[in-house]
Amino acid sequence: MARVLSCIQPTGQVHLGNYLGALRNWVSGQHAGDVFHGIVDLHALTVTETPGTLGANTLDLAAMLFAVGLDPEVATVFVQSHVPQHTQLGWIMECTVSFGELSRMTQFKDKSAKKEADFVSAGLFTYPALQAADILLYDAQEVPVGDDQRQHIEITRDIAIRFNHRFGDTFVIPKAVTPAAGARVMDLQHPTNKMSKSTETDAGIIYLTDSPAEIEKKFKRAVTDSDNTVAYDRENKPGVSNLLDILSVATGTPVAALVEQYSQYGKLKTDTGSAVAEMLTPIRARYEELKNDPGELSRLLRIGADRAQVVAASTLERAYRAIGLAPR
Ligand code: TYM
Repeated sequence: MARVLSCIQPTGQVHLGNYLGALRNWVSGQHAGDVFHGIVDLHALTVTETPGTLGANTLDLAAMLFAVGLDPEVATVFVQSHVPQHTQLGWIMECTVSFGELSRMTQFKDKSAKKEADFVSAGLFTYPALQAADILLYDAQEVPVGDDQRQHIEITRDIAIRFNHRFGDTFVIPKAVTPAAGARVMDLQHPTNKMSKSTETDAGIIYLTDSPAEIEKKFKRAVTDSDNTVAYDRENKPGVSNLLDILSVATGTPVAALVEQYSQYGKLKTDTGSAVAEMLTPIRARYEELKNDPGELSRLLRIGADRAQVVAASTLERAYRAIGLAPR
């Protein structure tokens, strides 16, 4: 059984990009692998939060992870700050990655540029080292993520290979697993930008908690182009291609078949809107139910943290021994 790990930050609300790029695959893969999924609250500290909101956001996100279908009986769902080995190995990762490598991370460049004159934390810069620790602690072979995380998985591989070379075989070298469709869901209003929690306006973002009416409205207003031919061309027709990708995942119909089926943008938009609304309705209902039971969510997260810690502690110990730190 493959060991699988992937994580999500408790910042903002879960959107369609998170769902199609990652969460859906976490759910479909949970019976085929030995799976660990973290809510990475410490990563969220890299951009300052309103004090006191992170804990509540963490519980909300846990409710959403169970609502999309992660089964606490088979999937280990945990909170990063509950498993202290993440920050412990994180330091070692920081000492195994170079300043130059971290400087080349597009996510750092984008996020720090967006903040311009604002406070840019050192944590935002060293973020990939903590992410490498998240992955390597669990001996993960597969990391199911959206396209935007590929560079972070690549640097994790580089760090693991370097560590193994310096100190002897210690870490499993992971690989990113991205879905065939849905790996890069674009903003409906700005289809050349990915759908993202950090976008200012949410007219182009579908949240998993949006009502069917809101979802349909957002799809009706989706930006396409003026030539009115339905064709799949990500570069020249990003809006239409994004709708085709989303409709394809929501209905299980290949993009090529959809291109044959549609001649009008209007119909493509309304059908995509209804398919997505239908797909998300049961998730929203389960989420509302689970959210009302924070005691049960905390209980499930404690079980997850206990299971995660057994694995994380043994890997950290292995890394300490490989380096040759004095035993206590
Ligand atoms: P985060 O919280 O931004 O996103 C969670 C997952 O959603 C995917 N995703 C998308 N997929 C398709 N289209 C989009 N528009 C889209 N937006 C987001 C992301 O690729 C991701 O899989 N750095 C990570 C969190 C992290 C992590 C890890 C991931 C920390 N440690 C260890 C994997 C393994 C992040 O910020 O994801």
